[in-house]
Amino acid sequence: MRIDIVTIFPEFFDVLDLSLLGKARQSGLIDLGVHNLRDSTHDRHHTVDDTPYGGGAGMVMKPEPWGNALDAILGAQPESDPADSATTKTPITGNAADAPTDTGPILIFPSPAGDQFTQAMARELSLEQHLVFGCGRYEGIDQRVVDHYSQRGRVRLVSLGDYVLNGGEVAVMAMIEAIGRLIPGVVGNPASLVEESHEDGLLEYPSYTKPASWRGLDVPPVLRSGDHGAISTWRRQQQIERTERVRPDLMPRRVS
Ligand code: ADE
Repeated sequence: MRIDIVTIFPEFFDVLDLSLLGKARQSGLIDLGVHNLRDSTHDRHHTVDDTPYGGGAGMVMKPEPWGNALDAILGAQPESDPADSATTKTPITGNAADAPTDTGPILIFPSPAGDQFTQAMARELSLEQHLVFGCGRYEGIDQRVVDHYSQRGRVRLVSLGDYVLNGGEVAVMAMIEAIGRLIPGVVGNPASLVEESHEDGLLEYPSYTKPASWRGLDVPPVLRSGDHGAISTWRRQQQIERTERVRPDLMPRRVS
């Protein structure tokens, strides 16, 4: 998978050299490009923001640097006859509802105003060939950037959760980790992906390792019984109890 990130803080993504995703990059499973938005400015101060039309607190990211940076990644919009607009779409095609088999990149803007990022979305995005992330800062990016690229192809606004971060970088890190580990070959043992929280709609069961007794706390005897049927049943019950207690909102949409 090819991943491009546009940000004013490229150093944020240095950690993608580490751990499983670092190995996935070395082995070519993930091909990462991190682009400094300021390199797409043409003024002496490399300005990326300006005051908001209509007033209000904070600054808004200017559209021109974003257009330059994203065109360099996605390809510039071809010159076209305005009367012929239906046939002028560039390589990013389709829309957010399209199946991941659609070709061309998908452009993702992390935003608290976006669709909630979930394990299902991570799985869907892990099937894509090219993801492009645009990390906004300040009060966000001029809306015309989203509108322009939505006319040209698939664009999604995605939220990490119902809280406000200082910018999109942390959200993109979390998304890349969740998506990247679902790419075949990134996680050594694929079985470990199957039995984890959210994959079957439930939270995962508690895990234990040696010693059998620690600080007066014993490993549940069933796990040491060697009875695989009983272990499976116990783990399922634990998943259900935990989900009912901690995340009752997940219960109706779980699979059996
Ligand atoms: N940028 C700021 N807050 C965010 C959030 N909750 N999710 C994604 N991007 C964000």
